[in-house]
Amino acid sequence: MANYVAVAGKGGVGKTTFTALLLRQMVHRKKGISILAVDADPNANLDEALGLTVTTTISELLEESKNPKAIPPGMAKNIFIEYKLQQSLVESKDIDLLVMGGPQGAGCYCYPNDLLRKHIESIGENYDFVAVDSEAGLEHISRRTIPHIDEMFVISDSSARGIRSAGRVHDLIRGLKSAVNTIYLVVTKTTEGSIESLSEEIERTGLTLIGDIPLDPLVVEYDLAGKPLFDLPDDAVSVKAVESILNRAGIFN
Ligand SMILES: Nc1ncnc2c1ncn2[C@@H]1O[C@H](COP(=O)(O)OP(=O)(O)O)[C@@H](O)[C@H]1O
Ligand SMILES: [Mg+2]
Repeated sequence: MANYVAVAGKGGVGKTTFTALLLRQMVHRKKGISILAVDADPNANLDEALGLTVTTTISELLEESKNPKAIPPGMAKNIFIEYKLQQSLVESKDIDLLVMGGPQGAGCYCYPNDLLRKHIESIGENYDFVAVDSEAGLEHISRRTIPHIDEMFVISDSSARGIRSAGRVHDLIRGLKSAVNTIYLVVTKTTEGSIESLSEEIERTGLTLIGDIPLDPLVVEYDLAGKPLFDLPDDAVSVKAVESILNRAGIFN
C-alpha cells in the first residue's frame, strides 16, 4: 500500500512550498518509486510549483457530469463519472498529479463522495507514495475522500497566530480519531531566534516540532519569476531544511 503523506495548515503558511520540496526530495532520493501528488486546496497551485500544467480539476469534471446531455446515450452515470475521473490525472515523468478543485455552488463539496473515495483509493494503489497538499479546512480528510494518512505535516509560519492555528488543526485531527497516524509541526519562514521566541506557543499545541524551514530568498525569487520550486538547487536552504525534516521523519526509509 502507498505511503500517504498530507501537508496541512492555514492559507499562506507555506504548504504548497513544503509539498513541492517534499516531492522534489522523493524524486531525487527514491529513484524509481511511483509518486502521486494530490492538490486538495481549492486555491490550487501545486501544479505551478511542480512545473506541471493542469487543464481541468476533478470538481470541474464532476460538475460537467451533472448535465444529463453530457452523458453519452446508453452509458450509466457512474461509469461516465469514473471515466471522467480517469481523465483528470496529469501524468509526467516523475510525478502524476490529481487536482481536486474548489467547492461547487454555495461552498458545497457536492461530490458523489463514495465514488470519489473509491476512485482515489484505487488510484492510490498504483503508487508507492502519495502526497496531499491539503486545503485549510481539511474537508477531504474529514470526509475521508482521502482514505488515510500515514504522516501529516502541519505547517505554521513564524508567528504566534500561525502556531495557534496549527494547534487548532491538531485538535481537529485528533477529533477525527484514526484517520491520521503521525502528526508533526513544521515552522516555515523562520529567521534567527524564531523558534526560541515561539517555543511556549509551540509547546501549547501538543505537536512535535520536527524542524523549521528558514526564510529562503531563492524561494521568494522563484515565486516572483514564476519558476517551479521543483527546480530549486540542491544547496538552497529550504531544500536542505526539507531534506533533514524528511530524514528525521523517516520518510526515506
Ligand atoms: N521558506 C520560505 N522562504 C521564503 N518564502 C516562502 C517560504 N515558504 C513559503 N514562502 C512564501 O510564502 C507564500 C505562501 O507560500 P505557499 O507555499 O503558497 O503557502 P500555502 O500553500 O500554505 O498557501 C509564497 O509567496 C511563498 O513563496
Ligand atoms: Mg497552497
